[in-house]
Amino acid sequence: MNPALPEPAALPGLGHVWQWAAGPVALLSAGAHTGPVFRLRLWRPALVGYRPEWNRAILTDLDTFRSRGSLSGLTPYLSAGVVHADVPEHRARRYGLSRHFSAGALAGLDGRLREISEAHRPHGSFEALGWSCQLVQHMLNVALFGGAMPARLLARFVAPLHRSMPAPMLPRPWLFRRAETAIARVLEDPPPGSIAAHLAGHPDAVTDLRVALAAGYDTTSHILAWAAWHLAAHQRWRHPQALPMFVGEMLRLYPAGWLGSRVTSRPARAAGVAIPAGTLVLYSPFLTHRDPELWPCPLLIRPERFEAGHPPWAYLPFAAGPRACLGARLARLMLDAALASLCDGDLAQDGGDPGIAAGITLRPRGPLHLRLGGT
Ligand code: HEM
Repeated sequence: MNPALPEPAALPGLGHVWQWAAGPVALLSAGAHTGPVFRLRLWRPALVGYRPEWNRAILTDLDTFRSRGSLSGLTPYLSAGVVHADVPEHRARRYGLSRHFSAGALAGLDGRLREISEAHRPHGSFEALGWSCQLVQHMLNVALFGGAMPARLLARFVAPLHRSMPAPMLPRPWLFRRAETAIARVLEDPPPGSIAAHLAGHPDAVTDLRVALAAGYDTTSHILAWAAWHLAAHQRWRHPQALPMFVGEMLRLYPAGWLGSRVTSRPARAAGVAIPAGTLVLYSPFLTHRDPELWPCPLLIRPERFEAGHPPWAYLPFAAGPRACLGARLARLMLDAALASLCDGDLAQDGGDPGIAAGITLRPRGPLHLRLGGT
């Protein structure tokens, strides 16, 4: 590991392990103050960068920067399917999936997602995280399985993703077997129009659907909760045509996928830094999106900033490159549909904590109490 690279203050004998466990976002932010690429001494040495040239290098060269051995392998929810595959297998798996998650393939889903959102529209006081989790479970069930996955089992399968560490990391073979059995049953007679219907007959369909459910759930529901909270304080963005820009700003400020990781398969260079083979390499949409050199006044909510555009590789809520988020289009559809249901009536904040907590995904510390009155 390059000793010339800076690192945030560490504890004697412990490196950064304790700070990582206690508050990884604070540790990353401290590291970002030391330089655009810095070292962390975790259970293994890691390099972190957040400037566009770093992001581009890490996210475009799939042969050098590999998924296997990276942090996603630490949780059973993500250590399978396309997330865990490397080139050349990744290319083939991705090719088989991408067209079923494209804008064209999902076009027919928008109306159904809006109906579901209207049916879940809160009345009076509600807590945004509870609302968003229920709604996203329902929407993902319809999009992926045509609504045919048993709702209670789906809820039980995704519940550990909300809990603090190490809950999402623990193996749950019995729960996973039950979820996969239910998915296999849906695939035997998949509801027309569902993503399951398109994947039926594909040898990896059960795993790919299980991974998509996990990857799409806490990410979307956490951002939705933050977006509902801030929409209450930014009334001028509360109409359906303005929502996509507002959502874009929420994805910038609260990128649920706050940290991505790879392992180098051979010696490499990124942003001028030499990286030995076998190094844990981290990129952080959270740091990139809050870098004042890339985003003026980064902590302010200013959706209009997107009118002026932004530097390439500086906006990564769904990562970028050949393994960018498979469900980005579906996530945007769900977020727009859900928030459109909050556009009528008076929406007001009623106390809560929108601060940041970090697990596998970024989530609000919460709770986030809101009120929706009138129509
Ligand atoms: C707002 C919601 C979402 C956010 C912020 C998000 C973010 C991300 C990010 C940052 C990555 C790249 C991770 C990496 O390789 O470093 C990713 C990958 C992925 N996402 Fe999402 N995601 C969201 C919703 C979804 C949804 C709804 C689905 C599917 C139903 C999904 C499925 C996937 C899959 C399968 C990958 C792996 C792609 C590959 O390795 O080729 N995501 N997501």
